[in-house]
Amino acid sequence: MDAYKLLITGGAPLIGETYVSGGKNTSVAVISATLLSDEPCTLENLPDIEDVHVLIDIMRELGARVDFDPAARRMTVDPRSLNSYRVPYRQSQRMRASYYMLGALLGRCGQAEVGYPGGCSIGARPVDQHLKAFRAMGAEVEERGAIISAKGELTGAPVYFDRITVGGTINAMLAAAKAEGTTILYNAAKEPHVVDLANFLNSMGCRVRGAGTDTVRVTGKKYLHGSVYTVIPDQIETGTLMIAAAATRGDVIIRGCIPAHMESLTAKLLEMGVAVSDMDDAIRVRTVRGHRAVNIKTQEYPGFPTDLQQPMSALLTRANGDSVVIETIFESRFKHLNEMQRMGAHVRILDQTALIEGVPELYGAPVTATDLRAGAALVIAGLMAKGTTEIYEPGYIERGYEHIEEKLRALGADIRREPVEAASSPL
Ligand code: EPZ
Repeated sequence: MDAYKLLITGGAPLIGETYVSGGKNTSVAVISATLLSDEPCTLENLPDIEDVHVLIDIMRELGARVDFDPAARRMTVDPRSLNSYRVPYRQSQRMRASYYMLGALLGRCGQAEVGYPGGCSIGARPVDQHLKAFRAMGAEVEERGAIISAKGELTGAPVYFDRITVGGTINAMLAAAKAEGTTILYNAAKEPHVVDLANFLNSMGCRVRGAGTDTVRVTGKKYLHGSVYTVIPDQIETGTLMIAAAATRGDVIIRGCIPAHMESLTAKLLEMGVAVSDMDDAIRVRTVRGHRAVNIKTQEYPGFPTDLQQPMSALLTRANGDSVVIETIFESRFKHLNEMQRMGAHVRILDQTALIEGVPELYGAPVTATDLRAGAALVIAGLMAKGTTEIYEPGYIERGYEHIEEKLRALGADIRREPVEAASSPL
């Protein structure tokens, strides 16, 4: 159990301006890609979050030289001192994106042994499509207990993903970046961080075309030069802040974001009656009336992101009317709703569908975060609720949101930490 809990006293509207940090899911992909370079690389706008620090630990253990200045959000990586292709299970279990070490090490060294990844408990999360891509490029891949090992000189090949997978697309791009010839990824993921990785690989001299469409072509280059690259802002943090502004009936300008990445959420908030206005690199969210209930169905980008389903469902608990939320990406991503029932939410869950009946108020209660975005959803519920909410296991939230408590406090939220006595528990 985490040594602290979050205490949130709800009711205050969030008012003012905030900013979005660099993207978590793009950063873990681009940082992994630096291992492919034959010269030092510098990355800018990286978020100071736990997942980045875990990846740094892993890369240092492989022998890479990694310097990270969290305040400047700048990292330099010199992979030339790399002296291992093995990522032990105790390290790979610490995060989901450790699986990118497979593609990067296979691409750079022709060999990789990586323990099964960890990550949020939101479903089975197999990696069969990642391994299918490596095998298509000529690698011998074995799954020995908790270790995945891959070996071979890679050559470009066609890869047809049986289902759209962000991690599989990115891992295949990493492996293909130095392969002989061209790899064509069919049924590829189109998320903004897939495009960001392609731009980074191209900045190192690789030739990636079609990122952002369902067909990505990667022509490998034996020698990849160094690069200075700025990662894109976090699409999911942007959305979480937008939803928090609406949920507290506030008026917030979110700076440093890319409005074009937010279109599916913006459309849903407008449908609810929330005033959303896009500026060049900022979005303003205001509530001018009560919120209409809406239906959500998560889909791969550019559909409604599964990572925003949980924060959005918190907002829907207090909408006027009944909302239907269908989660199509992961099998078990409704646990936060069970927690919100303790706060007075009226929810019925049947398999991948949640029926949320809007109530006039939520009430503070002790709740427990079960994963990163569930934690974000509970923070939003706490900001909406009458009284004080205690959120146990808030450590999940730090994995993916940089300085989120400070950002919310600066907007007027009453949110603070309190040590958890050994004996206490939310039940
Ligand atoms: C990435 O996870 C993100 N994580 C997730 O964000 C995000 O929810 C997900 O993409 C979808 O957008 C990172 O980028 C580190 P997938 P990933 O491969 O790569 C199945 C967050 O909160 N699948 O697109 O694991 C899989 O089980 C996290 O920031 C296979 O069946 O997602 C899932 O049902 C949570 N075989 C679906 O595909 C495979 O080989 C989508 O998974 C791979 C995936």
